[in-house]
Amino acid sequence: MADRSQRRVTKAVVPAAGLGTRFLPATKATPKEMLPIVDKPAIQYVVEEAVAAGLSDLLIVTGRNKNTLENHFDRNVELEAALDAKGDTERLRRVREAGVTADIHYTRQGDALGLGHAVLCAALHVGDQPFAVLLGDDLIDVRDPLLETMLRVREERGGSVVALMQVPREQASLYGCAAVETTDEPDVVRVVDLVEKPEAGEAPSDLAVIGRYVLAPAVFDVLTKTEPGRGGEIQLTDALRTLASSAEHGPVHGVVFRGRRYDTGDRLDYLKTVVRLAAERDDLGPGFREWLKEFVGGEHWELGEVKP
Ligand code: UTP
Repeated sequence: MADRSQRRVTKAVVPAAGLGTRFLPATKATPKEMLPIVDKPAIQYVVEEAVAAGLSDLLIVTGRNKNTLENHFDRNVELEAALDAKGDTERLRRVREAGVTADIHYTRQGDALGLGHAVLCAALHVGDQPFAVLLGDDLIDVRDPLLETMLRVREERGGSVVALMQVPREQASLYGCAAVETTDEPDVVRVVDLVEKPEAGEAPSDLAVIGRYVLAPAVFDVLTKTEPGRGGEIQLTDALRTLASSAEHGPVHGVVFRGRRYDTGDRLDYLKTVVRLAAERDDLGPGFREWLKEFVGGEHWELGEVKP
């Protein structure tokens, strides 16, 4: 029988143990999830998103360099005392905000054996209940809520839910890609197959899996039996493929997301994210936009090159 348990999702897992090789050397001693997006590390946006969706029990899967991550969400008593002594209440508020009102736990992924393996590291903490997974370097704009919709779809339809985004066909090979069937609800599809990073021309659709999942606990059993796939890593996509075709532990649905998403683990996307979010800020925005217009329209640019 399909897993249609109405149990509410209360736990979120945030994998943050990847090697971040695309961002070396910045990520040699700092997890990429800690890179600042304007003035907050990427993972803080992700934690805030989970809390806003009602998930207050969080497990962050850390790798080497876990200390900066744990310290960020912990109190910094000396810093708080120094700001307090100076009467700098605004900065004090922002420092305290980092310790968001969530119950944050940590577990260690010894070797970066893939996203599927990172999720498997959460099995003990999650237990036998559905849970959310939010990738720590994948930001969903707070103005375009996605997780809430996914949680509703899970409650109504059971099984597991993935987030999908339309991408140009030539980019499909960078993602996990889904073959889907429509349902009675616009932008909610039934996933019938998944391929991790398909070869050019072999993608089953232009729908790519992005970094939000609501998973049935059956995924843990499947992951223990999932052989390393693409890149020698245990792929979450491969486990989801098994769930999608399982009468007992499916179905897998997809919510097609049409909002703003920022892949901060990719250098070009990272730059675009910082510029966009800084330009939209009330405090920094006006001055930054003015400079940006001058910079882009100014004499620095000639034949697409920036003059020193
Ligand atoms: P990515 O594939 O983007 O991370 O994984 P990566 O391997 O660190 O990236 P590059 O290609 O080397 O730059 C997506 C998410 O899964 C986590 C990452 O930290 C990221 O949040 N992840 C990945 C793990 O926690 N463990 C792994 O073994 C792999």
